[in-house]
Amino acid sequence: MINIHGFKQKKENKEKISVMTCYDFTTAKIIDKSDIDCVLVGDSGSMAMFGCRSTINATIEMMALLTSSVAKGITQKFLIGDMPFLSYKKGLKTTMENIDKIMKAGANAVKLEGVRGNEKIIKHLISFGIPVMGHIGLIPQSINMIGGYKVQGKHSEDADRLQNEAKELESLGCFSIVLECMPTDLSRKITESLTIPTIGIGAGPYTDGQVTVIHDMLGLESEKKAKFVRKYLDGYNLILNGLNKFHSDVVSGNYPSQDESYFWREE
Ligand code: KIV
Repeated sequence: MINIHGFKQKKENKEKISVMTCYDFTTAKIIDKSDIDCVLVGDSGSMAMFGCRSTINATIEMMALLTSSVAKGITQKFLIGDMPFLSYKKGLKTTMENIDKIMKAGANAVKLEGVRGNEKIIKHLISFGIPVMGHIGLIPQSINMIGGYKVQGKHSEDADRLQNEAKELESLGCFSIVLECMPTDLSRKITESLTIPTIGIGAGPYTDGQVTVIHDMLGLESEKKAKFVRKYLDGYNLILNGLNKFHSDVVSGNYPSQDESYFWREE
């Protein structure tokens, strides 16, 4: 099992880190038995589980509920809880109450998007023994400011800013940083400049690890996904076919069979 120290160790040993998002108990139990290193209850769960149009609609209640259901199925993995939109921007007292909800739900660490304005809270959390994961590049909670789900750091000024932000997160004490949607050369430069591991999503192969949204890799959505998404299953069609098979078995009387039925006297 990887713990907080395992992240740095893996980077030192040049071992890649796999991170999977998860939002429910049943899937968490499967991940727990897998080789995956670390689990993230991402605020993407607001979209995947609650049908929200963006992560801006995620609330602390939603994230605490998702985190507690995942935590019940995870016994052997490091569990990171995502802090939702504005939940860490409403003053120290409210922020700490919100962090408390995610940690009490079973997280081992929290993830915060962005750097500017988060410096104090990151330091504060770490000083109280709460590990913090940073997240830079495409930060979906700022989508209205960014102007769309676009690759970040394509221009030198922006790339310099992202490099500085990564350095700052490291010096604030973050144990790891998510680099989302940025050119491969930039994520490589950032990764090589840090002693803490970077976890990429849409950031090319040179980060210290990769994170993916579980619904994307299981192919549960029928819509076309971003270029970096690799489908490991055709979950959408597997489930659809299973549902249609059940329907046709019910309609034809093929389900349940004698073997699937109870009788007065059974051996
Ligand atoms: O919410 C999420 O799933 C995330 C990952 C994409 C890093 O933040």
